[in-house]
Amino acid sequence: MTQDRFTGVGLGLRRAHLEPVSQMEGHGVPFWETCPENVVGDGGRHHRLACAILDRDPVLTHGLTLSVGGFDPWDEAYIRDLGRFLLRTGTPWHSEHLCFTGVDANCLHELLPLPFTREAVRHTVSRVRELQAQLPVPLLLENITYYAELGASDMEEADFIAAVLEGANVGWLLDVNNVYVNALNFGFDPREWLARMPLDRVAQLHIAGHQAFGELTVDTHGAEVIDPVVELMQWTLARLGRPVPVLLERDNHIPDFDVLLAERARLQLAYEATMTLVEAHHA
Ligand SMILES: [Fe+2]
Repeated sequence: MTQDRFTGVGLGLRRAHLEPVSQMEGHGVPFWETCPENVVGDGGRHHRLACAILDRDPVLTHGLTLSVGGFDPWDEAYIRDLGRFLLRTGTPWHSEHLCFTGVDANCLHELLPLPFTREAVRHTVSRVRELQAQLPVPLLLENITYYAELGASDMEEADFIAAVLEGANVGWLLDVNNVYVNALNFGFDPREWLARMPLDRVAQLHIAGHQAFGELTVDTHGAEVIDPVVELMQWTLARLGRPVPVLLERDNHIPDFDVLLAERARLQLAYEATMTLVEAHHA
């Protein structure tokens, strides 16, 4: 599922940076990731700036509100608009979170964990298949962070994720920071966790910063990526043995665009160093 034009480290397209990005050629960012919810159906100035960038540069799309594991009926009008938007951007896939985000037609604006049960696997696989049938590009699911388990589980999170990916036959947007944060909060080894997963399904990575609040570590996307998470990204890329695109997420305490470009460049160097080792290994 990896496409050659999507390699290296990209950035999320944020409203705060639309102006400088729209005026900037040769910014060195190989691709952007955009949330369709922020672009579809909005006709204002930000919409025009975002569309100009999306028409100019490679883009991947990442949704927030489809509530893949939920029970609410699909918003078919939105999904039709989304499909048109995906085709316009030329994205090779569309990603969503493996979670639920709404109840009784109320969007909760949170990524909430599903119960890790066989029943939830069956339900979610069927929902993902329904959603995939309505989208014009392959769907990827992203592993989330969570801070409490919902109800009694009859399986572990890793087995739950693997069962949904395999059952629905979809790709994986692997967020390495989310694995790292869950590993801290729930006390497991992120490399052991990853080593038992179906890594052949990974089409894209996310990387981000997190923050500690007392005993709890929270995936805030509000700080620089720390070295152990960069190392986990490198370990994962080496294990994959192929150059899947990595997206640096930054949604809070958003710095000046130059600062974000410098962080992206630092991650790009780490990415390239790993790919050089992978190529040498294959040679
Ligand atoms: Fe993510």
